[in-house]
Amino acid sequence: MFDIKSTAKFTPSPHPSIKFIVMALAVACAAPALAAGSFTSAQADQGHQLFNDHCAECHRPDLTGALGPALKGPDFAKRWGGRPVEDFYQFEHANMPANAPGSLPEDQMLAITAYILKQNGLTPGSTALNQTAAKDMKMPGGGG
Ligand code: HEC
Repeated sequence: MFDIKSTAKFTPSPHPSIKFIVMALAVACAAPALAAGSFTSAQADQGHQLFNDHCAECHRPDLTGALGPALKGPDFAKRWGGRPVEDFYQFEHANMPANAPGSLPEDQMLAITAYILKQNGLTPGSTALNQTAAKDMKMPGGGG
């Protein structure tokens, strides 16, 4: 991270590079907020199909849970709300489907994650969910 104070100390008069640093900081700060809807509608639709094929047998097609716990609703929000989407994705990737952990390729599990986010009230945006974006996104329902 840039330290504006120490930079200013060594260049006391206004300098063009300060402007650049301020702009860079503004972009860096805006990034997490932009990432909030960081999955596409098409990705969530693909995830819907994959979820029905690989997950619904234990979590139900409406995500309310059966053999596996509900993947939406108050208990789910209590467990995952406010945590990075990346943690959630890593859990799924390492442990699910419970009868064949790790069997789904990354892009398919990301699509399923996008679908689960949509089911939990997040709005799709124009950029697809990937692991970098997942680090900056929080699971919905935090603070409850
Ligand atoms: C054979 C049954 C089964 C299948 C298929 C299955 N799950 Fe699970 N799932 C479980 C069980 C049982 C648990 C609870 C045990 C645990 O947390 O390790 C669980 C837990 C989870 C959790 C953690 C829930 C929480 O709130 O802690 C997530 C997320 C999840 N599953 C996602 C998926 C996804 C995504 C798929 C499809 C790719 C899937 N599961 C397929 C049985 C299943």
